[in-house]
Amino acid sequence: MRTHIANLITAFIICLLFWGCSKTDDIIIGISMGPTHERWTKDISYLTHHLESQNAKVIVREANGSQVEQARQAKEMIEKDKLDVLIIVPVNSDAAGKLVDYAKSRDIDVIAYDRIIKNCDLDCYLSFDNVRIGEMQAEYLTKIKPRGSYALLGGDPGDNNSLLLRIGQMNILQPLIIRGDIKIVVDENVEKWDDGIAYQIMKDYLAENDPPDAIIASSDGLSRGASKALLEAGVKKNVLLSGQDAETDACKRIVEGHQTMTVYKVIESLAASAANMAILLANDEPIPNTLTTVNNGTKMVPAVLVSSIIPVGEENIRMTVIADGFIDEKEVFGN
Ligand code: GAL
Repeated sequence: MRTHIANLITAFIICLLFWGCSKTDDIIIGISMGPTHERWTKDISYLTHHLESQNAKVIVREANGSQVEQARQAKEMIEKDKLDVLIIVPVNSDAAGKLVDYAKSRDIDVIAYDRIIKNCDLDCYLSFDNVRIGEMQAEYLTKIKPRGSYALLGGDPGDNNSLLLRIGQMNILQPLIIRGDIKIVVDENVEKWDDGIAYQIMKDYLAENDPPDAIIASSDGLSRGASKALLEAGVKKNVLLSGQDAETDACKRIVEGHQTMTVYKVIESLAASAANMAILLANDEPIPNTLTTVNNGTKMVPAVLVSSIIPVGEENIRMTVIADGFIDEKEVFGN
């Protein structure tokens, strides 16, 4: 009998030890997805896959671009779902700070995914080098047309990435502007990265002015709007057009000659890193001290800036997005 009780106690202690080491089985990760464009659907499925394959339970809420809805959904998850970690793609980089503070007050770790969240006690930030992406867009177009009139269609003013992209674009453009080679004829930030608004801006411009030589659109959604306005206005000249995200219709525009380039970001790498980080935080394990840091106004946030970003034009589309299986060949080239 004594041996039996001793065995039970030993088994109980071993269970406790295992439970203390890693609680992968009970980990619950919330994903609060603010924006809604083609790429984010992929981010959700990569994140879910990489988290579930480490036995975490994943809860996803999509706010369809509404800051108010994102706050409501995130609060609900924080209160009801016993989260260990909350991954947020904020609609607005400032407003989401309140959600981070609320989650932290309930002992939930928070990761900002792709877009930083400012002025709060964020645990970790993962993104690409958005300044470099902006540089790539401007480099690609200015190599083809180092002189001329340029329109700038930037992203949502509330998304910090819009600012970083613009810094990168201006790193390349500013010397050419000072030299008098390039003139900026449109300079707008497009609310909610909305392609309809980008379309209207370019439509209004083309109604009164000659087409510009180039349009630096910060995303493929914005290039969709710009391209539609150019086609409708019957513009014959080859207006250079940039983008970002390697969305399906942007890749089609590139092979059809209606868009010059996009930036392909290997978002599966970003999602895999974020999933690993979430599991570390959930297990209360230290995150690597080799990370870079990004100042969010409150602290130097441990950060990962994934380096897989590739400018894609007609010349390398097959060996990049198609070869990687990111976009289906048939969808771009037809049968
Ligand atoms: C940015 C993101 C881009 C693009 C854009 C619009 O924050 O970095 O990849 O998708 O939002 O959703």
